[in-house]
Amino acid sequence: MDNKLFSPIHFGDVTLKNRIVMSPMCMYSCKPMDGTVQPFHIAHYESRAVGQVGLVMVEATAVQPQGRISYEDLGIWDDLHVEGLKEITNRVHANGAKSAIQLAHAGRKASLAEPIFAPSGLAFSKDYHVPNEMTTKEITETIKAFKDGATRAKQAGFDILEIHGAHGYLINQFLSPLTNKRQDEYGGPRENRYRFLSEVIDAVKSVWTGPIFVRLSANEYDPNGNTMDDFIYFAKQLKRQAIDLIDCSSGGVIPAPVTTYPLYQVPLAETLKKEADIATGAVGLITTGLQAEEIIQNNRADLVFVARALLRNPYWAKQAADELNYPLEAPTQYVRGWRNS
Ligand code: FNR
Repeated sequence: MDNKLFSPIHFGDVTLKNRIVMSPMCMYSCKPMDGTVQPFHIAHYESRAVGQVGLVMVEATAVQPQGRISYEDLGIWDDLHVEGLKEITNRVHANGAKSAIQLAHAGRKASLAEPIFAPSGLAFSKDYHVPNEMTTKEITETIKAFKDGATRAKQAGFDILEIHGAHGYLINQFLSPLTNKRQDEYGGPRENRYRFLSEVIDAVKSVWTGPIFVRLSANEYDPNGNTMDDFIYFAKQLKRQAIDLIDCSSGGVIPAPVTTYPLYQVPLAETLKKEADIATGAVGLITTGLQAEEIIQNNRADLVFVARALLRNPYWAKQAADELNYPLEAPTQYVRGWRNS
């Protein structure tokens, strides 16, 4: 069988050796408040590189302290964060994978004691604080925080940046009519709701020349939310801004129930790829090599993002290769053992 899951792919000067991405996953493992990398993070990300994932993506990392989901989140709002992140990229690279980091801001979904902000003063649910509506000055400062985060990501040696525009966090709050009720140029029609993300991308690109992915929630599970037509519009804008890939997730904008099942979000990646002619990543209950191979072979997406299956098994790539009868000759240190087993 011809294999595509283990075929390389290029994003600008960055080549991934296969199509398997470790999906970003918050580990809530920082010492409260400081956002710096701990020994756990290093072992956690390095072990997935040893496990032959093509791209190891570091979890949602806050560009501002008030943008943390929790006090245990990783941060990139201070130069002090660079050293620990650099240790992660060094270890990931030493084990043959490429590294990415997801730049994030929680907006109204920050579970912090101090005041939080969002496009509009609407709480996520009764368990969350009511955010302050962002001033234009706060919007400008937050865009600059994404830019400074990108500068630090570069200093730390990451190959790829992902901007977190999904799951109802700040950028998603601007994109969605459910959460953005602004009367200024950042609210109203979708052209305006896209403006914040557009300006974040422009700011990041002024300091970062490498590949950029954007994660979107391409289904809001609410009849008054963005429609697929809106997501196709956003995808075309992202393509116009030369974004390299859209990582297609869903939900989290409002507390709506989501029915999940194997490959449930793959049609989102497939639709945006075809309609906007842009590379996409598929994520969500992709647990077997056969599923992943089907997605890539049928051109439904360019990358598969694997999250929980990689928590269960850091060597998931090897398991996938075995399913596909693909002779994965790595890591070289293990190959003799595998041959003899
Ligand atoms: C996540 N997910 C997530 N997504 C994201 O964009 N940034 C993040 O930091 C996190 N954090 C996170 C933590 C944990 C513990 C889990 C399980 C998930 C979502 C994740 O990347 C993925 O989209 C979903 O888990 C669906 O993929 P799987 O798990 O079905 O492969």
